[in-house]
Amino acid sequence: MFDLAIAVAVLAAAGVVPSDALQDAVLLGELALDGRLRAVPGVLPATLAASRAGLTRVLVPEANAVEAQQVAGVRVVAARSLGHVVALLTDADPPDDPPVEALQHVGDLAWRGEDRTAGLDLRDVLGQDDARFALEATAAGGHHLLLTGPPGAGKTMLAERLPGLLPDLDPDHCLEVSAVHSVAGVLTPDDPLVRRPPFVDPHHSASMVSIVGGGSRMIRPGAASMAHRGVLFLDEAPEFNANVIEALRQSLESGQVTINRANRTAWFPARFQLVLAMNPCPCGLEGSDCSCPPAVRRRYADRLSGPIRDRVDVHRVLQAVARHQVLDQLSRPESTAVVAGRVAEARDRQRARYAGTPWRRNADVPGGELRRWWPLAPEITTALHEGRHRGRVSARGMDRIMRLAWVVS
Ligand SMILES: Nc1ncnc2c1ncn2[C@@H]1O[C@H](COP(=O)(O)OP(=O)(O)OP(=O)(O)O)[C@@H](O)[C@H]1O
Ligand SMILES: [Mg+2]
Ligand SMILES: [Zn+2]
Repeated sequence: MFDLAIAVAVLAAAGVVPSDALQDAVLLGELALDGRLRAVPGVLPATLAASRAGLTRVLVPEANAVEAQQVAGVRVVAARSLGHVVALLTDADPPDDPPVEALQHVGDLAWRGEDRTAGLDLRDVLGQDDARFALEATAAGGHHLLLTGPPGAGKTMLAERLPGLLPDLDPDHCLEVSAVHSVAGVLTPDDPLVRRPPFVDPHHSASMVSIVGGGSRMIRPGAASMAHRGVLFLDEAPEFNANVIEALRQSLESGQVTINRANRTAWFPARFQLVLAMNPCPCGLEGSDCSCPPAVRRRYADRLSGPIRDRVDVHRVLQAVARHQVLDQLSRPESTAVVAGRVAEARDRQRARYAGTPWRRNADVPGGELRRWWPLAPEITTALHEGRHRGRVSARGMDRIMRLAWVVS
């Protein structure tokens, strides 16, 4: 990313380009040995930072131009080579260089499921009324969700249909998410904005680095950050490395990931909706069908630690779909479009409720503020305080329940 800036600085020192042509200019790009200007990751956040710093002119590789142009108030100049940049800075005729190919995706895309989930519809999910309602509430308020149930009950099916219920990203969130995806090097060059909430579903064999971010040469965002403002789905959650799940606690708390290195610290945003799916037991079966020793079941469930469970707002247990539900030709489950419509209305109500605050969804509001400004009816809180008193509800659990109450009431 710094190649071009370094090369032009040397040329300015040598008197080849006039220094005043570089006033208020930012130069981004990688130089090939033949002087071609290669696209780089991270142009969007770099241009945003330039704009915030009051710089108005950004010279970028041609293949990054559309991305840089998403930032208002910045003049973007696109170039194909170092010679081209020198010509632009000295008002000479540009050389006749061929276009340089766009950035090859540098990030690992295997766990980005947007395209895969785009056409999925809730109409296909039979029965499971309770879990469907939980999914809707989760979508409306921005909550975290844990689905437990036997194999083939529809847990994965439901989770993959959550993104379809979420509204488009607000313009500011769209830029935030696109900036993270830019750093990961996964934007589409000629349509570089991410407008839909991302859906990221890493495999349970995923490493710490690929989930939380990191890397040796360049620090890259992990799945948690790629899911920023979208959904992070951990299917078969107990199969994940326990350290990986524990590491997500930080993001769940703070909405960001901090990566410490010997010589520097990087942070990425990571405010996602967490969806976890699991079987009640390693054998997969439920209740009387399972004959595993209780210790086995407990050990399996314990792989999702108490602190993680305590951060998940909605816990639902699914039963296997009954045979009559599968065979019922008359059942017409609601479609994604219908449910998404109610979610959009719920979001509008939240927006009105929290107007003038930094929050947009119930899940965003800190517990203290919620208690102070949006208290629940006393008959509800009495039961809550009793539960708290008896140790059945944690302090965090109280906040969670109150947030959720605003969605489901
Ligand atoms: N509620 C349902 N309505 C319609 N089809 C269903 C339902 N549940 C499961 N199926 C069918 O079973 C298949 C598997 O469902 P899914 O993968 O969602 O199950 P799961 O609960 O995630 O199971 P596992 O615990 O094995 O991961 C689906 O592709 C679908 O064909
Ligand atoms: Mg599944
Ligand atoms: Zn079992």
